[in-house]
Amino acid sequence: MKKVILVTGTSTGLGLKASILLAQEGHTVYATMRNLAKKDLLLKEAQDNGVLINLLRLDVQDTESIKEAVATIIEKEDRLDVLINNAGAGFARNTEQATEEELQWVTDVNYHGVVRCTNAVLPQMRKQKSGHIINVTSVGGLVGQPFNELYCAAKFAVEGYTESLAVILPKYFGINLTCVEPGGISTEFFNSAAKVTFGETGMPDDEYTPIFQAYLSGIQARAAASKETTFQAPEEVAQVILNVMNDNDPPVRIRTSAWGENFCQFKITADPDGKKQRDQVIAQNLD
Ligand SMILES: NC(=O)c1ccc[n+]([C@@H]2O[C@H](COP(=O)([O-])OP(=O)(O)OC[C@H]3O[C@@H](n4cnc5c(N)ncnc54)[C@H](OP(=O)(O)O)[C@@H]3O)[C@@H](O)[C@H]2O)c1
Repeated sequence: MKKVILVTGTSTGLGLKASILLAQEGHTVYATMRNLAKKDLLLKEAQDNGVLINLLRLDVQDTESIKEAVATIIEKEDRLDVLINNAGAGFARNTEQATEEELQWVTDVNYHGVVRCTNAVLPQMRKQKSGHIINVTSVGGLVGQPFNELYCAAKFAVEGYTESLAVILPKYFGINLTCVEPGGISTEFFNSAAKVTFGETGMPDDEYTPIFQAYLSGIQARAAASKETTFQAPEEVAQVILNVMNDNDPPVRIRTSAWGENFCQFKITADPDGKKQRDQVIAQNLD
């Protein structure tokens, strides 16, 4: 069945590639971005691939823009089958280094934005008694990372949010929920995170500096030694999103690479797709 799909954060990276792949599969894709001045990259790729993409403005930090985008889609299509909460941003200052504004921002973009978009689509999906909300989290949503505690905590929040909704929405309203958990993806993500993190002021010079330097060198060395296995192309992760979307009984969570699976192994071995835990919570609370 061809689906009507809303994707957030499609100016670059995974959101862009997922929009193209889903349109190539014949779905009706509403690709959204906070700044439509960045639309050319996506539109060119759509043209090169001979697919049609519907473009709308949506800033996950702006509730009105979310409501407007969702209302436009429902008005035109009379349905909305899939929400892909992809928009997100990295941040690598730790608790003592981040300002109050940075704390609010990293949580807002990565977590509150998911809640806002989910809230906006649920009335229509409940009415349809069908839908799928796919939240792009991270291996950092399962395993805490040094200097990334604010970003990881926001992704953990999305995981907890998804898990909680996955107890109610599939059973009573036919709406599925899945966290897609990539490891490294070769996108603008790290450049954008570096801009925000190092910014105009650079990294703070404090007692964490040598620890941060060692951490960075370690990442760079590992990436240089095994870039192909550590980092995925965004197209590969987009394919995982498509597979999950086509799954009649989709997982609550899924890693996107063997590297990611190995990285999270101690957290996920007992219940890799999250269904055992979900079913136990349902049995204990709702059956
Ligand atoms: N790359 C990785 O290594 C990696 C690993 C694990 C998980 N992820 C997750 O994968 C998802 C996609 O990231 P990516 O790798 O494709 O990075 P990316 O190329 O930096 O793309 C991030 C997208 O999010 C958008 N965005 C940021 N703030 C937004 C807002 N307030 N409203 C709407 N859109 C906003 C960006 O738009 P602008 O162009 O306007 O900034 C951009 O389109 C994110 O959720 C990220 O956390 C990435």
